[in-house]
Amino acid sequence: MTEAEDRSGWVKRPTAAIEGTGCTLEDYQALYARSIEDSDTFWAGQADRLDWIKDPTVIANWSYDPVSIKWFEDGVLNICHNAVDRHVAAGHGASTALIFEPDDPAGEVRRITYAELQAEVIRMANTLRKMGVTKGDRVTIYMPMVPEGAFAMLACARIGAIHSVIFGGFSPEAIAGRVEDCRSDWIVTADEGLRGGKRIPLKANVDAALDKVSVKAVLVLRHTGGEVAMTAGRDHWYHELSADVAADCPCEPMQAEDPLFILYTSGSTGKPKGVLHTTGGYAVWTETTFRHVFDYREGEVFWCTADIGWVTGHSYIVYGPLLNRATALMFEGVPNYPDHDRFWQVCDKHQVNIFYTAPTAIRALMREGEGHVTKHDLSSLRLLGSVGEPINPEAWRWYHDTVGKGELPIVDTWWQTETGGVMITTLPGAHDMKPGSAGRPFFGICPQLVDAEGEVLDGAAEGNLCITRSWPGQARTVYGDHDRFVQTYFSTYSGKYFTGDGCRRDEDGYYWITGRVDDVINVSGHRMGTAEVESALVLHPNVSEAAVVGFPHDIKGQGIYCYVTLNADVAESEDLTAELRAHVRKEIGPIATPDHLHFTPGLPKTRSGKIMRRILRKIAENDHGALGDTSTLADPGVVDALVEGRRNR
Ligand code: WTA
Repeated sequence: MTEAEDRSGWVKRPTAAIEGTGCTLEDYQALYARSIEDSDTFWAGQADRLDWIKDPTVIANWSYDPVSIKWFEDGVLNICHNAVDRHVAAGHGASTALIFEPDDPAGEVRRITYAELQAEVIRMANTLRKMGVTKGDRVTIYMPMVPEGAFAMLACARIGAIHSVIFGGFSPEAIAGRVEDCRSDWIVTADEGLRGGKRIPLKANVDAALDKVSVKAVLVLRHTGGEVAMTAGRDHWYHELSADVAADCPCEPMQAEDPLFILYTSGSTGKPKGVLHTTGGYAVWTETTFRHVFDYREGEVFWCTADIGWVTGHSYIVYGPLLNRATALMFEGVPNYPDHDRFWQVCDKHQVNIFYTAPTAIRALMREGEGHVTKHDLSSLRLLGSVGEPINPEAWRWYHDTVGKGELPIVDTWWQTETGGVMITTLPGAHDMKPGSAGRPFFGICPQLVDAEGEVLDGAAEGNLCITRSWPGQARTVYGDHDRFVQTYFSTYSGKYFTGDGCRRDEDGYYWITGRVDDVINVSGHRMGTAEVESALVLHPNVSEAAVVGFPHDIKGQGIYCYVTLNADVAESEDLTAELRAHVRKEIGPIATPDHLHFTPGLPKTRSGKIMRRILRKIAENDHGALGDTSTLADPGVVDALVEGRRNR
């Protein structure tokens, strides 16, 4: 136990690191109370920090039954103006907006000022216009982690187009499905991506996707210089098409509730959903959460290691930092290339002050030993953050003691694609920390725990996590399918937003997220629907049936465990295992690669034919003693065979 701990489980917020912070516990309590009791005044005050073409007079206007969510609805603004032009106009054009650190440590670092960012975004915006993109059109962005990815997002926002960013690790099939779902006529991509020294064939993946769906045009950034095929009339090199565009491009005035972006995310059933965020509420929410959660101070370097293909990259590489005129670091590579010290080497090289990463990365690096950390000068670091999955106390302590030298606060931020920004966290300066607990609700957030029947649980309790009031950054709908939005989030417990997470609240009012309670698994901080992996498996001609569950994995948090029933005439073999793994990678992408394939002649089903996933989860967890009641099974013998099969693995 370190000196900072004065009672079991608590880690005192370190006073040395928070000197000068704007937020004390009393501030938090007062601001939180105001955000609930006088919500409209509180949020109007936050909104005031942005430039509005027309100030909003209606602040919150929402209902969870029926579901209709609006914030700042009569306000007019442009988020790109607020993230870029506003700062240049105020005389900060020479401040650094983005620092780009390439995959190759010897590669060229790019430092992009706000004035340069403005010029680059205008160039991209006018190029998109030249391709025919107009307000309300959906533009798919399938890019490596390079500044042009951010330029493309901001360019869309500038001209009122809706961006749909697809993570560069997704397969052609996944791209095609998303392009089709939101009827996107344009794709922005690059020749290739680079990660850990390997080339990712982005353009070739787009070409394969376009065998299945068609678009009007593809804009291609030359990044690695690798060979790619260009289809005449459809594909355009960015450097060619942008060569003669105008150097100005006004920001489109947007209603606060005009769509800003779609981001596909996995749920418990069906295909990924296109979660829709709108302009005004998302701008206010990312500006406010970034400022408070990371206690950002002028001139500091903020590094979020996520990819712009995920919501964390949207909110805390692009919008949150830039709305606050911060300097954001963008890293193309991976934590273990060329060696396990890359994160710390980059922190040292760019004098990073605030570092925000995922538990899976921390666990992987922890395993490599502290020498990789201690050989670098990390004295610039002031604050650490964690996001994406529950952080186990052991990893928390290593992060705190080894990376943070036992001195830095850690913000463990719980939130979701659907929430737009951080919802539960401690605030540096205000709260003591408990390793493994996300902490307290952010301003305006009312968490509630309920049991399976929907009974509200008070005080210290464990249950399903709901949110009872709307907040500005909340997703407004599922693109093109509002019923699905209502069904997914507001029908389990009527009148409440259901997060899909289980959670415990302790006697101090701290929240401990226990993980998903639905059929979503969290693999290395990436959300994966078990139904998606099952659909991919049964597409294979040899597979008759598949059931997929998560199981605890030391590094990834959860791994993917697949039970597979083969067609009668097919024998299991190592070749077939390899083939099925490759098949899932091809259908979804490498992040969905199964960890275990367990061939079985049958799956445990009730007499009515429902697969009993509870049993499959227990077997995958190797928790054979706790299988519970199996008497309702059509054929209880199946379970013995599965347990035997698991033991032999
Ligand atoms: C999980 C990522 C525990 C949770 C921002 C949630 C977390 C899902 C945390 C959303 C955390 C995220 N502690 N669990 N600090 N942060 N999660 O949409 O299960 O990719 O529902 O958004 O990640 O994942 P998503």
